[in-house]
Amino acid sequence: MTEKTRILIIDDDEHGRQVMELLLGKTGFATLSAANGADGIRFVREAKADLVLVDLFLPDRNGIDILREIRQVSPELEVVVITGHASAETAVQAMKEGAFDYITKPVNFEELKIIIAKAIEKKRLLLENVYLRKQLEERFQFKSIIGVSPAMQRVFERMQRIIKTDSTVLILGESGTGKELVAKAIHYNGSRKGHAFVAVNCGAIPEALLESELFGHTRGAFTGAVRDKIGKFEAANHGTIFLDEIGTMPMHLQSKLLRVLQEQEVERVGSTRPVKLNVRVISATNTDLEEEVRKGCFREDLYYRLNVIPLQLPPMRERKEDLLPLSSYFLDKFCHLMGRPLMTLSKPALDALERYRWPGNVRELENVVERLVALTEQDHILPDDLPVEITEIECSSKGLCLDLSPDGIDLPAAIEEIERKLIIKALENCGGVKARAAKMLGLNRTTLVEKMKRLSVA
Ligand SMILES: Nc1ncnc2c1ncn2[C@@H]1O[C@H](COP(=O)(O)OP(=O)(O)OP(=O)(O)O)[C@@H](O)[C@H]1O
Ligand SMILES: [Mg+2]
Repeated sequence: MTEKTRILIIDDDEHGRQVMELLLGKTGFATLSAANGADGIRFVREAKADLVLVDLFLPDRNGIDILREIRQVSPELEVVVITGHASAETAVQAMKEGAFDYITKPVNFEELKIIIAKAIEKKRLLLENVYLRKQLEERFQFKSIIGVSPAMQRVFERMQRIIKTDSTVLILGESGTGKELVAKAIHYNGSRKGHAFVAVNCGAIPEALLESELFGHTRGAFTGAVRDKIGKFEAANHGTIFLDEIGTMPMHLQSKLLRVLQEQEVERVGSTRPVKLNVRVISATNTDLEEEVRKGCFREDLYYRLNVIPLQLPPMRERKEDLLPLSSYFLDKFCHLMGRPLMTLSKPALDALERYRWPGNVRELENVVERLVALTEQDHILPDDLPVEITEIECSSKGLCLDLSPDGIDLPAAIEEIERKLIIKALENCGGVKARAAKMLGLNRTTLVEKMKRLSVA
């Protein structure tokens, strides 16, 4: 059962108070009452009430003063004012001081019930909002960014410093390394968290629309502009704008963007009236912007404007230490979402994950784990449950891995993988008879069994 809403009645008229208590009690509210302002304020300080009804004419204090004091002690508490004499002036003053509404004596109880219901609804919405915002903030707390590797520790240290400033940040990193997640964490942990975080993917919006998307337009500015539209910059005012894939921004818009950043004001397309802005800019790219500048595809002055504080996110292959905590985090997430018991990774499966190069970085890992949770029968994940692209090391037709990527390879791991593959193949060809498979591989049976154990061949 939900708790009853507690209504505090502050009124010196004893008879009026009792009638009100009786009627409100019948409607299902809990009431408490005070005959003077001092007692009333005490109840408010003790957080005894969810809503206050206060008579503006009390023996000890001026009702407006009491209203002010209640608002000071407990700003979220709604106050409904009761005025004895139908004085419009005091009612107006009460509303100015933040009263939720007013009602005149003699009190029409039906009218009062409607006012109370509205006040309760407002409070409920407010609480819900606070709750939702808190949830959002938690989602983007640093602790929701997983990383134990030295490379990620350095990122966290830098983020700690960044959230104390209001500077422009450029996040660099390959696809799927967590650029957007980090941008949100910077916003939701900084001083602008009470305002909007507006993300624009510059690469996903057709060039013809990007300008009005970013800066807005006035009605009639171009064919199809049937009404005024505010742009993302204005929507992000007092908050943060996240310009994702900034490297794809066309040249003519780069100059316009530079002007907006320099002047801190924006002009809607079709208008000449500038709008003042106070926006933090965080941009992100997975392209080498310096190279783009050298090639003449990105304005150098804009690059320096955006790159006040660079933040480089390391690719997955340079933070293998994070594979286990990240996998566990995603296993937990998807098992929970799909309502199944928590799954675990076997050591050989983890080894295979660590050997893989993860071109799609954290996003790829997240997708792989989601697929595992959806498709794997048992709760303990074995290497054979993993997608082939992860367990297979690129092999030439002769079965040997001869591709040496510029980042190098882990030779012992590559050799182990080839051993594993050939053993499985031999066993398959021999119908699982180990002695015959051993002969096929030029090994004795004991060596084969040992290798099978070490390489987790079932
Ligand atoms: N360190 C991390 N901890 C937990 N989740 C992460 C981490 N890094 C990334 N993710 C998750 O991986 C996914 C991809 O991250 P995000 O979208 O931030 O990457 P991105 O760098 O913006 O990628 P792209 O360049 O493709 O846009 C998201 O679901 C994000 O929540
Ligand atoms: Mg992104």
